[in-house]
Amino acid sequence: MTNQQEMATTKKKASFTGSLGFVLAAAGSAVGLGNIWRFPYLAAKHGGGLFIIVYIILALTFGFALLTTDIAIGRKTGKSALQAYGDLSKKWNFLGALSFIVPAIILTYYSVVGGWIIKFATDYIVKDTSAIAVDGYFGSFITSNVSPIVFTFIFLALTAIIVFFGVDKGIEKFSKFVMPGLIFLIIGISIFSLTLSHTDASGVTHNGLDGLARYFIPDFSKVTVQSFFQLLLDATGQLFYSLSVAMGIMITYGSYVKKDVNLSKSVSQIEIFDTAVAILSGLMIVPTVFIFSGEAGLQNSGAGLMFNALPKVFEAMGPIGKYIGILFFIMVLFAALTSSVSIMETIVASCMGFFKSSRKKTSLIIAAIFAAASIVICLGYNVWYFEYTLPNGSVGQLLDIMDYLSNSILMPIISLLTCVLIGWLLKPQTIIEEIEIGGVKFKKKGLYTVIIKFVAPVMLALILAQALGLTNFLFK
Ligand code: PHE
Repeated sequence: MTNQQEMATTKKKASFTGSLGFVLAAAGSAVGLGNIWRFPYLAAKHGGGLFIIVYIILALTFGFALLTTDIAIGRKTGKSALQAYGDLSKKWNFLGALSFIVPAIILTYYSVVGGWIIKFATDYIVKDTSAIAVDGYFGSFITSNVSPIVFTFIFLALTAIIVFFGVDKGIEKFSKFVMPGLIFLIIGISIFSLTLSHTDASGVTHNGLDGLARYFIPDFSKVTVQSFFQLLLDATGQLFYSLSVAMGIMITYGSYVKKDVNLSKSVSQIEIFDTAVAILSGLMIVPTVFIFSGEAGLQNSGAGLMFNALPKVFEAMGPIGKYIGILFFIMVLFAALTSSVSIMETIVASCMGFFKSSRKKTSLIIAAIFAAASIVICLGYNVWYFEYTLPNGSVGQLLDIMDYLSNSILMPIISLLTCVLIGWLLKPQTIIEEIEIGGVKFKKKGLYTVIIKFVAPVMLALILAQALGLTNFLFK
């Protein structure tokens, strides 16, 4: 390709072919490890039902307002995050730069976790379930020197290939193929898991119904004001991360949406998709872990739940466990890939706008940079291992610190500033007008205005305060 041709391709505006492509790609970004891994763990921690109800209410209010804002900013300006805020208001250019940092931090470790998933998927294909369920299996893998890096590279390469092919031929095509498959797998595995039953060494039997009850029925006897406050903060934080808002991603995807797409409807569809996958993931994981490993298994939080507790469950299932294990990790891989694609796309799109470079060249360079960066994260589990106590009280290594910085600190700050910019300086009407283009009726505009001006800023300030450890005294 000559330079001129390259310039011409850069200038042609990329877009999704229609609303379905957009909704599936955006849902693909939203549906990720947060739905499959974090939501079930949080729901289990907070006793199930109540957490789910609070989460749904928040999704319909808080989540709806933030998602609408990001997507509308993208479509209105036609720019990716790095340039979009400056387009809205010159003085707010810094917010674009700030939101560029978030996906850049996230990609360094998301690809490492993606690598772990590929490792487990291939293990279930080639190994016995009992070999993978051995105590310390996961730990010894991530602390080994070379193999996590190799798997991370495979995951990054898959991501880069999709981004390389562009918005319609890469991201949209991939999402249209993967998202229905993902739903199919989650529903299948959830139904299967409810047919299981297991008797432990002490003779206690748990079946699917017990597991279901553990997941859905709230235990109000344990609810206190403090625990409810903690639940509210956890649900808000989770929702925020789950919808991929405040990191430029939905702005970038919004910039690829044609003006004739009904944004209000798309936002609802993305939210329904994301919330349904979160609840179904819980249905797939919480009862199963409860049946086979009881309460103790459920307390195995975070990475432990997926990589330590579930392998034990697959082993206990007998011969079929191998196949469920394969399907499960392939499904998680799908979910992780559509998310990592959206992260890399956001970085690539911002760089293309900034350096006026071509998509192909930019994707290759970005992939190389992140390959190098992710090596550092992998080495954080061996050569550069350390433990650090974060202001919110949790102890983490390099990967957790990156996660904390991006999700707990930067995202609430960016979102809070976006609320100030849209709610108070430019006024909510800026967004409402964009939604109402082409005569679309924005039914929830009253609700939107109240949330973006008042409710969201307060909640965001609270999650930020919690992340900084300022609410710790409440939980003494
Ligand atoms: N929203 C994704 C999830 O729920 C996470 C994600 C983070 C996606 C960062 C894109 C970027 O897992």
